[in-house]
Amino acid sequence: MADVFGFDNPVKRRHHNWAKWDVADDELPMTIADMDLPTSPQIVQALHDKVASATYGYEDIPQEYYEAVQGWLTRHHRFTPPLEWMSFATGVIPALSSLIRTLTTVGDNVLMLTPVYNIFFNSAANNGRHPLASPLDYENASHTYSINWADVEKKMALARTTMMVVCNPHNPSGLVPEPEDLAHIVRLARQYGVIVVSDEVHGDMLWDDTLDYTPILSLPEPLRGNVIELISPSKTFNCAATHACMVLIADPNLRAHAVRGFNNDEIAEPNLTAVPASIAAYRDSDEWYAAMLSYVRANIELVNDTLAREMPLITPVKMAATYLPWLDCTDLFAAHPSSPVSSVSPDYQSTEVEALDRPHTVSDEFTAFIRQTSGLLVNPGGEYFGNGATFIRMAVACPRHQVEDALARLKRSYDLWCEQH
Ligand SMILES: Cc1ncc(COP(=O)(O)O)c(C=O)c1O
Repeated sequence: MADVFGFDNPVKRRHHNWAKWDVADDELPMTIADMDLPTSPQIVQALHDKVASATYGYEDIPQEYYEAVQGWLTRHHRFTPPLEWMSFATGVIPALSSLIRTLTTVGDNVLMLTPVYNIFFNSAANNGRHPLASPLDYENASHTYSINWADVEKKMALARTTMMVVCNPHNPSGLVPEPEDLAHIVRLARQYGVIVVSDEVHGDMLWDDTLDYTPILSLPEPLRGNVIELISPSKTFNCAATHACMVLIADPNLRAHAVRGFNNDEIAEPNLTAVPASIAAYRDSDEWYAAMLSYVRANIELVNDTLAREMPLITPVKMAATYLPWLDCTDLFAAHPSSPVSSVSPDYQSTEVEALDRPHTVSDEFTAFIRQTSGLLVNPGGEYFGNGATFIRMAVACPRHQVEDALARLKRSYDLWCEQH
């Protein structure tokens, strides 16, 4: 397929103030979840036009923005939420942290399914709430995750549990909750007086044609009253620094309460890029989106094929969603243990983990070893709690040659690890 959007060409990110690329010249970062691919030409044009306007005053959110979001959800996810459900916030995590402050009390439990995007823990813990983990079940033979319903219910039923944060689809496990899973979570949450916040920032990127992303608010009534859905163009369109999130809430009272919090926290007003970029993304960039999906899908297949062929002791979890392959190194560490052994600390799956004080795991040792021996940077799975201690995570929304380089480096480190351990 012709490379219409220049995905094969590296975007210059080294030495350009990008968080991910603040590394030595011979190092290759495959860590933070942003893309090394150029965003859609429509977004670039919209931002050019904005800059050329030479006027950067205070802005409102125009009707066009809400309509663009509605159009996107209708075209791609068969979901047409009323415009009045939507409120703007300056990012998914700013919105989540604000919701935690507004809708829960200091000392409350914020429940989440682990392993999960580590910043959820910070959002809870930094606000004096207690991040409460419900570890996903993991089947070693099939390398698949599922929800441990008994554990979820037990923890939802705790008087102190007032919010559950769902990652739909799930980073880093790639799990795509079925509509019935989401409905069950919402039913339990209603029963126990819990608010469900569903972070759906990865919802536009699915790789398993038998599965579909379900926007949580597309569930029928009465499964909407205690639910908040967060979406953003930031992952799908590689525009995280435009800082834009749409918060969808069906219940008017809950919405009013949440929006008062966004205003108190001063996260309800856009910067000069948020509106033009989001409209151009959601309304005008379908062609780029389709091309990006097929490009990134091929990258994920390349990772899977190369690991199976050349690094059989590392097994990718079947990624139904996200561009963040989640690589199970359990067999590698069993055959070639690190020394001193630090695989799984006994209380690692504790439900009372302190977010900012996680145990050092073999995944930290392995990722440090990889960086030292081949200059490749990947995330240690221990960052995400749950059973992450024996996993690593690698972001692969980048030019193909970069994935090839990363895999060659990983192979070098893998061989050395096997030799030395
Ligand atoms: C699940 C999830 N939520 C939120 C974010 C960040 O969102 P934002 O930049 O809008 O705060 C990320 C980034 O990696 C993510 O993976």
